[in-house]
Amino acid sequence: MTTILDGKKLRDKIFEQLKQKIDKLSKKPTLAVILVGDDPASKIYVKNKKRTAENLGINSLVFEYPSHITQEELLNKIKELNNDKTITAILVQLPLPDHIDKYKVIDTISPIKDVDGLTPFNSGKLFAGEKPYVYPCTPKGILLLLDEYNIKIDGKNVVVIGRSNLVGKPIAQMLLNRNATVTVCHSHTKNLAEITKTADIIISAVGKKIVGEKMLKSNCIVIDVGIFRDDNGKISGDVDFDNVSKIASHISPVPGGVGPMTIASLMLNTVELSELNH
Ligand code: GUN
Repeated sequence: MTTILDGKKLRDKIFEQLKQKIDKLSKKPTLAVILVGDDPASKIYVKNKKRTAENLGINSLVFEYPSHITQEELLNKIKELNNDKTITAILVQLPLPDHIDKYKVIDTISPIKDVDGLTPFNSGKLFAGEKPYVYPCTPKGILLLLDEYNIKIDGKNVVVIGRSNLVGKPIAQMLLNRNATVTVCHSHTKNLAEITKTADIIISAVGKKIVGEKMLKSNCIVIDVGIFRDDNGKISGDVDFDNVSKIASHISPVPGGVGPMTIASLMLNTVELSELNH
């Protein structure tokens, strides 16, 4: 019998504790979210972040800009938020339009307000094995989920599929910092299935159906970070859930697995930064 790694249940437990903590804070956290353009998925994500924050007692401000905003205007807004003492966390929703250099944008966020943990200061700390102000949200959420189900990481063979700055690279580093043996696979990887068959834990963050049961060894632990709509318009993940769940010891579903943990981590990070800023 496979165990479902229930991200919604853990998120709700985290929110219950977090709400009590926020209620007691004399200075409330304030999360500023910048949204550029009208990507429908980004709009939904930002709306959910705002609603979730407000339900927990976190102040939330959303600054929306048209896709033709200049890079300079965007950088000036970030600098203004950096200098505003009432703002304790800043998130620039990605992706950004092509004419904007996302690295410049991320580099401009003050590290102590960088709720995604993506600035060179915070990612540099992470990659040096030091403690950043906060850890990136999705990787942090994945580790909280593994820990909740008492899944040991030390000494495990972990295969990560995907090498993005948001998920693949930081989760690989965070696992390495916890003494896993980590292999990172990506679009140029040859013989993917040969590598994934060595995994005790597999983490897939690609955004297309890529992981089937024939690629895995029995009783492995499967974390599905992908979320997209399939050809029938149904929300789907990277993993063939029905078949993989027959052989995996643990599996995270889509929806209801990593997604809720990402937002839980964002709220945890917002409160952690608020305490640091105040
Ligand atoms: N777009 C998709 N996921 C994320 C995320 O975790 N942070 C930001 N800033 N943008 C995203």
